[in-house]
Amino acid sequence: MEIVIHESPEQLARLAASVITDTLRTEPHPVLGLATGSSPLPIYAELIRLHRTDNLSFAHATAFTLDEYVGLPPDHPQSYHQVIREELTTHIDIPDTAVHSPDGDLTRITTAGERYEQDITAAGGIDVQILGIGTDGHIAFNEPGSSLRSRTRIKTLTNQTRQDNARFFDTLNDVPIHALTQGLGTILEARHVVLIATGQAKADAVAAMIEGPLTAACPGSVLQLHNRATILIDEAAAAKLQHADYYRTSYERKPSWQRL
Ligand code: GLP
Repeated sequence: MEIVIHESPEQLARLAASVITDTLRTEPHPVLGLATGSSPLPIYAELIRLHRTDNLSFAHATAFTLDEYVGLPPDHPQSYHQVIREELTTHIDIPDTAVHSPDGDLTRITTAGERYEQDITAAGGIDVQILGIGTDGHIAFNEPGSSLRSRTRIKTLTNQTRQDNARFFDTLNDVPIHALTQGLGTILEARHVVLIATGQAKADAVAAMIEGPLTAACPGSVLQLHNRATILIDEAAAAKLQHADYYRTSYERKPSWQRL
């Protein structure tokens, strides 16, 4: 894991955007993994800015969201199909048909996971996966107890996650109880994962992910097994790390030729 601690979420967003920019400029058919939630929003704002002011093009890119609520129609404002369009993809030049999310329709639910895996494989696998982390350590919607090798499937959301996400819905009861999510095994296959976490509410989850044991009890800890995981955190989210000084020093001493 490479851990980058920075005071400013905007600076973290610029770093994450630079990884995506490099991929867009070097891969003929870049495949992006996109997270929803609040944490990646500054990254998406930066990508939109680069598209508008720097001619950054997504025309040849394909995108896959991490997850989707089960039972929300694609045009529901809180479906991740819709959210990712609102927050990013309608503001850049990626073709709408190249933006994928798991199929949360109840009538097709039993095959949705397998179909999503096939779509990712057919696209050539994910080059860069953007991630956030939940306060209970979940990544995508892999809640505590998720198999460390899991594939895209249905998960029951914890009460904590439903409460955390209730701010996007009218009432807590409106938050779906199930979601389709890329598995931890699916996420591990992305060639580069970039996780962003900011704010004090994430400090426990961040410490467990980076310095705790590898355990299904903290699904984010599976990233300890990834050979290219970049963890971007602000000072508040870094507050409970024992080795924060070491991470700061190593980033300061990073060889100039080495990119994220
Ligand atoms: C949601 C999403 C995750 C996200 C997490 C944290 O439940 N499924 O992909 O990382 O919660 O969200 P936020 O960034 O808003 O704190």
